[in-house]
Amino acid sequence: MCGIVGYIGHREAYPIVIKGLKRLEYRGYDSAGVMIYDETIKVCKTKGKVVQLEELAQKEIDTKGTIGIGHTRWATHGVPNDVNSHPHLSNSGELAIVHNGIIENYAPLKEELIKRGYVFHSDTDTEVLVNLIEEVQKKEKIKLGKAVQLALNQVVGAYAIAVFDSKKPDEIIAARLGSPLAIGVGEGEYFIASDASPFIEYTSNAVYLEDGEMANINLNKSIKIRKIKDDSLVDPYIQELQMNLEQIEKGGFDHFMLKEIFEQPNVIKDTYRGRLHADKGIIQMSGVEDHLEKFLNADRIIIVACGTSWHAGLVAEYIIEEFARVSVEVEYASEFRYRNPIIKSTDVVIAISQSGETADTMAAIKLAKEQGAFVFGVCNVVGSSISRESHAGAYTHAGPEIGVASTKAFTTQITVLTMLALRLAKAKGTLSHSDFHRYLLELELIPEKVKEALGTIDRAKEIAAAFKDAPNCLYLGRGYNFPVALEGALKLKEISYIHAEGYPAAEMKHGPIALIDEQMPVVVIAPKQGHYDKIVSNIQEIKSRSGKIIAVVTKGDTQVRELADYVIEIPETSDALSPLITTIPLQLLSYYIAVYRDCNVDQPRNLAKSVTVE
Ligand code: F6R
Repeated sequence: MCGIVGYIGHREAYPIVIKGLKRLEYRGYDSAGVMIYDETIKVCKTKGKVVQLEELAQKEIDTKGTIGIGHTRWATHGVPNDVNSHPHLSNSGELAIVHNGIIENYAPLKEELIKRGYVFHSDTDTEVLVNLIEEVQKKEKIKLGKAVQLALNQVVGAYAIAVFDSKKPDEIIAARLGSPLAIGVGEGEYFIASDASPFIEYTSNAVYLEDGEMANINLNKSIKIRKIKDDSLVDPYIQELQMNLEQIEKGGFDHFMLKEIFEQPNVIKDTYRGRLHADKGIIQMSGVEDHLEKFLNADRIIIVACGTSWHAGLVAEYIIEEFARVSVEVEYASEFRYRNPIIKSTDVVIAISQSGETADTMAAIKLAKEQGAFVFGVCNVVGSSISRESHAGAYTHAGPEIGVASTKAFTTQITVLTMLALRLAKAKGTLSHSDFHRYLLELELIPEKVKEALGTIDRAKEIAAAFKDAPNCLYLGRGYNFPVALEGALKLKEISYIHAEGYPAAEMKHGPIALIDEQMPVVVIAPKQGHYDKIVSNIQEIKSRSGKIIAVVTKGDTQVRELADYVIEIPETSDALSPLITTIPLQLLSYYIAVYRDCNVDQPRNLAKSVTVE
């Protein structure tokens, strides 16, 4: 959570930092701040979004200067307010810091600093860190870089930081442990950011710091990277960025979420391109081919993930068990890591994460590795922590997902996991030759069908207008579409703040049916394939209790149409691949309900895109 930005070079820093913060706002948006240096340190910070910061900064500070750091916050220690916003200054006013992460042992450190006369203005752990650095610097009479290193060695927790010392205004010190940090390398200028989006138009060269590394970014001496623990030097590995500016802009859509929903036909294709060759009957993913034996010898696959990625894991459970006949367990990473799970060296653990930075998922895979399991990562962000920590993996090629509510990441995760299931089925001979080929061909047709499903947009708008004021909503699905019901409910909750629950349809009569009355909209996912007759009976049960039925049905359906208040028609596909299609109208429905309720679709309250704290 939180986004950090820094600039040191020959351009005006303020516009770069502000634009960078806007791009990182998906990481947290309850407060924001900047520090600009030009002979003196100038700080402006406020509760609220980056636009509010911008308004205030124009009034309050002279924004001139070629060095700057900035922060957009998702509060952990201390409520969102002006004082708790970053940057934080040390007591002397000479050091400034921005920080993403949590300093877990801040309380004893703070106590010690108070005894030494330090005064604290905020409730944050970050203010403790900047004063600790100052204390070390003064005590040891050392330069900033060394002081940061010694201080970080006293700290327990997670951080990505940028620290500036006005006594040495030609450098910024950056460091990371558990929170991502990229350094853009330009001509006589450097950029620091939580991801590369803030500097994409200035340079395509970037160094990603590894966990436990720090960088002295000096305008005159270039970058020096060292290990925080033992001071050993590391050669900076400069990578060429794969991202482009277009990918991180809205491209004419009102919101990133809508743009990302509409990108799905293309990104699903990008995800299977080069891996799926339906004409030749081939499916291959290098991360799987190199470790096929591990998968084939596994007694069990354990999937760990959080949120939407966990829902993709549930779809994968159904599909891997059906196609490859291997037992699959799906675990919330946050539960798995703390419940002393039984993990065997013959287990394969699949970690699913869009950001590749989710703290609980990261901890779960570390635990699995300690117990000797083979870890396979399914991540979207290339080079992310989880992708690096995994033994092998497969990237989803969804491109940057900026809307906080996950959409294209979900469908591309399902695409990767479907390919994995098919690859294993082929190796194990658990699917007939003709079924295997049929699924390959069907998967290849999915992008076109997703495009067709996007044609339900007007219907979604109409239904959204009718139900935008509903206080609650139920989502029901069976089999492959049970996880889609969960995902549909999560999407609605997180962006429209309407309470919603997803249930396996047959579970309704074990409790939730009590909620149904004429006020209650019930979204039922009822494609022709799968447990159609059973779900028709469930719809009848809702109807006889006067619930309002919104049904997602296969094109041409007549039976459900007779019962439902609203139907949304989608193209036909097999049961196993149907989540890739049934999800689409539910994303559109949530989106328009949130828009009609005037909610901030891309940045819903209390959320952040990348959850790097547990
Ligand atoms: C919901 C959403 C979250 C994430 C979850 C895991 O729309 O985006 O539930 O799915 O925080 O994030 P990743 O996939 O980055 O590990």
